[in-house]
Amino acid sequence: MQAPIGIFDSGVGGLSVLAEVQALLPNERLIYIADSHYLPYGDKPNALVIERSVKLTEYLLAQQAKAVIVACNTATAAAAGHLRECWPELPIIGLEPAVKPAASYSKQGKIGVLATQGTLSSQRFASLLARYASTLEVVSQPCIGLADQIERGLLMSSETRALVERYLQPIQQAGCDALVLGCTHYPFIKPLLEELLDDSIKVFDTGPAIARQLRSVLFQRGLLADQPSSHFPAFYTTGWPAQFEQVLYLLLNIRTAVQPLSLE
Ligand code: DGL
Repeated sequence: MQAPIGIFDSGVGGLSVLAEVQALLPNERLIYIADSHYLPYGDKPNALVIERSVKLTEYLLAQQAKAVIVACNTATAAAAGHLRECWPELPIIGLEPAVKPAASYSKQGKIGVLATQGTLSSQRFASLLARYASTLEVVSQPCIGLADQIERGLLMSSETRALVERYLQPIQQAGCDALVLGCTHYPFIKPLLEELLDDSIKVFDTGPAIARQLRSVLFQRGLLADQPSSHFPAFYTTGWPAQFEQVLYLLLNIRTAVQPLSLE
C-alpha cells in the first residue's frame, strides 16, 4: 500500500526516528513535519502540545497518511492518549524513554534519564518508572536548552558541551551504568556523549525499536508498502525552511527543499 507514513516532532529531533524508519522500511513513503514555530515543546503547557499534535495529525491525514509516528517523547506524553481517542482506527506510534531496556541492563540498579521537563513531569513517565524501574535508583535530568542547541546544529559547540557536562554530572556522580536518551533530539549528540562518558555507561535510545514496532503494526494490518517508493521523503516546517534545510543536511546529509507550512 503506497499511502505515506506521517512523522512529526517539535523540530529536527524526529529526524533521528525518520532515519531508522528509512533504514528498516525503505519502501515506505515518508512525510515529516517539524513544528519549529512552537519549539521547544518541552516547556510548553500540555494543552498547547495537545492542540498542536491534533493539528499536525489532521494535516497528515489530509495527506492520506496510513500511520502516524509521534516522533517526540514530550508530545507522546502529553497527547498520544488524546490522539488515539480522536482516531481509534489509525495506527499511532508514540515514543517513550527506553527505561525498560535500560533497567533490565543495569547491573548497578541505577539509571539516568535525559529528557525534557514536559516528559519527566508527565503522568506517563511516572507510570513508566512504576512499571519498569520501581526497584531502581533513577536520576531524571531535565535538559533545558539542549534541544534548542541541537535545533541550531550546534552539536559540538562549547556551549552545548558545557550544558551536557552539567546535565550528566548528577548521573555520573550517582554511579549510573545506563543512560536513557528520552528526547528524540539527543541521539544527534551521541558523538559528544561518547567523548564525555566512559565505557561504564551504556546509552539507550528508542529510534530503532520504534522502526521495528512500526513494521510489525503495518504488517499486522496489511499496510506495508509492497513496492519500492519512488518518492523522496517530503519535509515541512512551521518555522523557517532555509534553516531547517541547513540542519537537515548537517544531521542526515539530505539536501532537499523543505516546504513552509502554516497550521494556525
Ligand atoms: N524532540 C522532543 C522530545 O522527544 C523534545 C524537544 C522539545 O522540547 O521540543 O521530547
